[in-house]
Amino acid sequence: MQSKINQYTSEIEAFEPKSAEELEQFRIKFLGTKGIIKDLFDEFKAVSPEQKRVLGKVLNQFKQLAEAKFNDNKDNFTGAAQDAAASEDLTLPGEGFEIGGRHPLNLVRKEIVEIFKRLGFVLAEGPEIEDDWHNFSALNFPEEHPARDMQDTFFVEASSNPETEKGKKSEFALRTHTSSVQVRLMEHGKPPFRALMPGRVYRNEAISARAHCFFHQVEGLYVDENVSFADLKQTLYYFVQELYGEGTKLRFRPSYFPFTEPSAEMDISCTICKGAGCQMCKYSGWVEILGCGMIDPNVLDNVNIDSKKYTGFAFGMGIERITNLKYQIKDLRLFSENDVRFLKQFQTETI
Ligand code: DAH
Repeated sequence: MQSKINQYTSEIEAFEPKSAEELEQFRIKFLGTKGIIKDLFDEFKAVSPEQKRVLGKVLNQFKQLAEAKFNDNKDNFTGAAQDAAASEDLTLPGEGFEIGGRHPLNLVRKEIVEIFKRLGFVLAEGPEIEDDWHNFSALNFPEEHPARDMQDTFFVEASSNPETEKGKKSEFALRTHTSSVQVRLMEHGKPPFRALMPGRVYRNEAISARAHCFFHQVEGLYVDENVSFADLKQTLYYFVQELYGEGTKLRFRPSYFPFTEPSAEMDISCTICKGAGCQMCKYSGWVEILGCGMIDPNVLDNVNIDSKKYTGFAFGMGIERITNLKYQIKDLRLFSENDVRFLKQFQTETI
């Protein structure tokens, strides 16, 4: 019995549990109701009275050693032990899960769409891989226009388009603006058209806080008899009051787009400083939010719409820009990084 105790003593002294499970195995082996200590005590009953005097002390010390080892270690694993116990207790409350939120660009796009829906605009969409005709030619871009240059446009590899000779500039590209959807809509229908066309667009730009190789636009189009620049102004006036609040001012500056004549860029009074001047508006009190104009008759002719009978207006805006103004986001890259700490800050919705 003495030699057994010596052997177990060295085992206990060397024992270093690495998990709650190992410690529990230890407890069962030595301290359990069918464990070694219980067995030794049973054996002890049968030994002679002389031996009892010596062994009784040894046995008690041995028992204390095992208990101390267990007690010294049991606190190391309480968290894990509790987890194990909790996973078995089905009556404990669940952990719950967070409901996802909408992406800020989605929230703003939705808001824009809702406003124009109230004016009778319907939604339309087109492909992101676009041909030269829909993205440029039909929109009255002259053949040598710089926007067609390789620097702005991502062309789709010539090899993926059997029609194009290798090495030649492909006829297909990632659309550079949603204006291509105007062409697709008009070539397949008859006026009147009153449509809103949100979508993703691509430009070959170096990625920085202020530019990205893809972004989002919303295009608007209205074609009917007797549509005038006054209609364009009133439509955009309504839009701005709805989106940024009553009293937001707008102004139109003459500009140039191949597909509109006359063309304009529209500014609104800075939403941050209300026109007083701040970093956002570069101390001018105004910020540009969209391009617009009366549809060039050449565009209508290109899609077989009688430009003597019909007129129309169009406008296009970047959703990122509108969102930046609303939430004062300074770095465009945040929109596509999926950082939950950023995304969490916007209104959440039940899906
Ligand atoms: N497509 C233009 C761009 O990406 C924006 C634009 C300007 C769209 C004027 C229009 C418009 O419909 O009339 O910069």
